Amino acid sequence: MAKPFDVQPVDASFGAVVTGIRLADLDEPTWRSLHDTWLQYALLIFPGQFLKKDEQIAFAKRFGPLEFEMGAVSNVREDGTLRAPEEGDDVVQILKGNEGWHADSTFKPIQAKGAVFSAEVVPTIGGHTGWADMRAAYDALDAATKQRIANLAAYHSLHYSQGRIGHVPQKGTDDYRRLGFEGDEDVLRPLVKIHPDTGRKSLLIGRHAHDIPGLSPADSQQLLQELIDFACQPPRLYHHDWRVGDVVIWDNRCLLHQATPFDMTQPRVMWHTRIAGDPVSEAALG
Ligand code: OGA
Ligand code: MN
Repeated sequence: MAKPFDVQPVDASFGAVVTGIRLADLDEPTWRSLHDTWLQYALLIFPGQFLKKDEQIAFAKRFGPLEFEMGAVSNVREDGTLRAPEEGDDVVQILKGNEGWHADSTFKPIQAKGAVFSAEVVPTIGGHTGWADMRAAYDALDAATKQRIANLAAYHSLHYSQGRIGHVPQKGTDDYRRLGFEGDEDVLRPLVKIHPDTGRKSLLIGRHAHDIPGLSPADSQQLLQELIDFACQPPRLYHHDWRVGDVVIWDNRCLLHQATPFDMTQPRVMWHTRIAGDPVSEAALG
């Protein structure tokens, strides 16, 4: 059946640009068709939507309960001044951390289902967002690697990933909990994940993953790095060069993402609405 919107796949194993649709005004059949399209492509890009905050939240809620409604991903303070990168406050350090490939909330007991993400202010240099297809990455592994990782798991921790870039957050600051630093317990997740809706296998890796039980720390780090280096390669990559008003929704259950560096003397203001993972399929092991 013809879809009630236009779908233009991007030049990658996943991802599509969707036009001819108003996200603020979707009837039920259109939303169902869009949901199917999302499961297929994992990343949908909607240019020029200019959603209001309540519209972005309402759109995200169609995909399920939210982990949080509206988080600014931004180097601009509430008073409008820019955070100086050389001061390196917790927010700047998280923005820097976002440049590493990751999936969201994998260090929490339940990882996120996905995110609706939109651009309000974009810098002229850098500040793109990249995604990498962990379904296609898993499929492309050789049989020996598939066998080696089949029953492996890794711990996930934000303290670990931020520590690797030299960020030791200040406990008790306003930003501390807001940025996700609450839990002290690392959580264990399998390296190979099965998507609850499509049944497809994907690699669950990224910067928060560390210390595979049963491997030495060095072997573990090497394997995790090799998997990221292999997985995050064309044709499994897409980077979006934002325009103000663009909206995307990604499937955090089978993609990694990253920010690219940008000129932090310019403002960048993005809005993140995080869709909560289903505890049945997105809970950590144990
Ligand atoms: C995020 C994230 C990347 C970006 O919001 O979770 O990783 O491009 N953002 O800002
Ligand atoms: Mn992220």
